[in-house]
Amino acid sequence: MIDIEFVRSRFIKHFDGKTGNVYTSPGRINLIGEHTDYNGGFVFPGAVDKGITAEMRINGTEDTVMAYAIDLKDRVDFKLNDPAGPKASWARYIYGIAKEMQKLGVPVKGFNIAFAGDVPLGAGMSSSAAMESCFACGLNDLFGDNKVSQWDMVLAGQATEHNYCGVKCGIMDQFASVFGKAGCLMRLDCRSREFEYFPFKPDGYRLVLLDSVVKHQLAGSPYNDRRNSCENVVKHIQAKHPEGKFETLRDCTWEQLDEVRAEVGEEDYKRAKFVLGEKDRVLAVCDALNEGDYEKVGELMYQTHEGLSKDYEVSCEELDFLNDIAKANEVTGSRIMGGGFGGCTINLVRNDLYKKFIADAKEKFNAKYGHEPKVYDVVIGDGSRRLC
Ligand code: GLA
Repeated sequence: MIDIEFVRSRFIKHFDGKTGNVYTSPGRINLIGEHTDYNGGFVFPGAVDKGITAEMRINGTEDTVMAYAIDLKDRVDFKLNDPAGPKASWARYIYGIAKEMQKLGVPVKGFNIAFAGDVPLGAGMSSSAAMESCFACGLNDLFGDNKVSQWDMVLAGQATEHNYCGVKCGIMDQFASVFGKAGCLMRLDCRSREFEYFPFKPDGYRLVLLDSVVKHQLAGSPYNDRRNSCENVVKHIQAKHPEGKFETLRDCTWEQLDEVRAEVGEEDYKRAKFVLGEKDRVLAVCDALNEGDYEKVGELMYQTHEGLSKDYEVSCEELDFLNDIAKANEVTGSRIMGGGFGGCTINLVRNDLYKKFIADAKEKFNAKYGHEPKVYDVVIGDGSRRLC
């Protein structure tokens, strides 16, 4: 986690010398359940020990926000009442969440903010959700007497992505960032929003992320296009079955999907097929975890990778290569994590194979792409909170 004093020193230096309150929110991993959240399915994320830390203070103005992105050394001031908002993409997260918190009845006025992060950008660990939940937590505390519920903060973060950043994301990332609990993964049903904490201590195994360092840019990217494909399939199934209520692919069966195969076309069919399979896999992983059967968990992770790569088509050459290296090293499970189009693989690896696997992945990846993948050992941490 980012050192509080580091953030504080910049906050003091770039504004009026006064201190504020400090808040932090984590990035996330996801064991399994990818691209299922906006399809009403299940996800299995956990918060990590890396995230965004922000110092924030009410500045007494009606609507002026003075913001400093410490890592980028970039200062942007903007007005909350300006309908266009700031141009800098990082500042749009602050503007967007402030607007969404206002919609929830929080009387947000002018404030100063400086923030820094140690969750790698573009690695698929959701640095953007970490920002949204960190800022939401701060605004709720500074202006809202902490009256906004955790779920409403999750939804405000998601709405920020939709309304100000151009990504039609689901709720997994913001959920994990807000609700995370050290040592626990969480199984969330994205349709009912019911969830359970799952203590995760895989005896004899560990989770490690390999970051291809290929950057994905979800905004305006094929991410929204994947979502459209899923919604298109649902629309066709609904038209065929006017008696039923089909809101997302969660409500659809394999038979119904097959019925519309010809009309939706092979691309949308394959995407929906992946989603239906992934929904079942999350439940199968839960059963396997309850039985302590990590080899089964790993097998399902490989199936997810295969589906994300061949059917959902959100992988890339580098991630497939990392997946192949995992297989060759007899790693228990490995797959793309997060939205795809770059970022990390998540690997469930036996302790005794760990060293050899990491060394081999570094060597082979470097030989092919001219740089090593970054290695992050997963530590499952707590969700959004005020630090001081
Ligand atoms: C991104 C989105 C999430 C989710 C994942 C894929 O991280 O923000 O809502 O859809 O991709 O599982």
